[in-house]
Amino acid sequence: MPTSRGFVSDNCSGVHPELLVAIEAANEGHVPSYGSDRVTRRFEQLVGTEFGPDAVGFPVLNGTGANITALRAVTRPHQGVICTETAHIHVDETASPEAIAGVKLLTVSTEDGKLTPELVSGRMPEALDIPHTASPSVVSITQATEVGTAYSPAEIKALSEISHDNNMLLHMDGARLANAAAAADLSLSEASIGSGVDVLTFGATKNGAMYGEAVIFAVHDLAKGIRMAMESSEAVNNDFNLCRGKGITILELARKIWAKVRPGEELRYVSDTPYPHDVPYRVPDVRKARAVLGFEATTPLNDMLDEVIAWIRDELDAGVLTAETRA
Ligand SMILES: Cc1ncc(COP(=O)(O)O)c(C=O)c1O
Repeated sequence: MPTSRGFVSDNCSGVHPELLVAIEAANEGHVPSYGSDRVTRRFEQLVGTEFGPDAVGFPVLNGTGANITALRAVTRPHQGVICTETAHIHVDETASPEAIAGVKLLTVSTEDGKLTPELVSGRMPEALDIPHTASPSVVSITQATEVGTAYSPAEIKALSEISHDNNMLLHMDGARLANAAAAADLSLSEASIGSGVDVLTFGATKNGAMYGEAVIFAVHDLAKGIRMAMESSEAVNNDFNLCRGKGITILELARKIWAKVRPGEELRYVSDTPYPHDVPYRVPDVRKARAVLGFEATTPLNDMLDEVIAWIRDELDAGVLTAETRA
């Protein structure tokens, strides 16, 4: 075993011994494939615990792949990504954001490796959506940065606000998120998604994993899917299922809504006799939305209902929806 230390990268160190033990334990017996195994379930639970119930995580092989997967998932090929001149996606990923995600990186020079709202607004074109420029649709920051600095929750919130105000998402390359969180005594979420990051590349390799990172989304995505359908020339005269591709019966849906609007009250309902050969349970086919638009919904039904019910209540209070519109 060599005794010298390699400081050129935190990738130089070996795998954490506890991880090797865990890998051996996970290798026991037979399990179903393609993500239905107990280790993937545990990963999904941990993503929810660490980053909140809205967060959805996808395990991927390495950090560069995670960044590119994340950017590709939330951009269209003609769009731009604002980042620093020192960003790993700009300097160290062999033009894969351009080649694979198809985006134009709009770089900004910084004092300390960190973007600020002023730097972001200085890099935006005078008007968004003009046909001659690559409109930025993502702001990408690194936590901790490539030069060893870190963003505070307030700094992330300010960047999230300017991004959202300008119809952009905030991506974080969190190859060293754990270091930034530990240094400032923050939770992983406070140092990222909880402060307004929409798409997070969460690294493990720099902290003792053999390999393996995750892309974690916290995106309210339906509106985005609709916008993608409006923007895509291949979508003209097509229809799409912009949902998660999970089945639910009308009665199950009614029960869910009822439990939210009248908690504790029993749902009473009258049902017609079913038609012969009626299909009582349908699962929407989302393959076309994925293939044509590159859109994949991630918001769970429960969260969507919370948002829609709150919106309907606001509209009723404001008099925009009335008894007539309800009928
Ligand atoms: C900030 C940052 N992001 C992403 C990566 C990419 O990770 P990988 O080497 O696993 O592709 C690195 C690797 O050094 C990094 O420092």
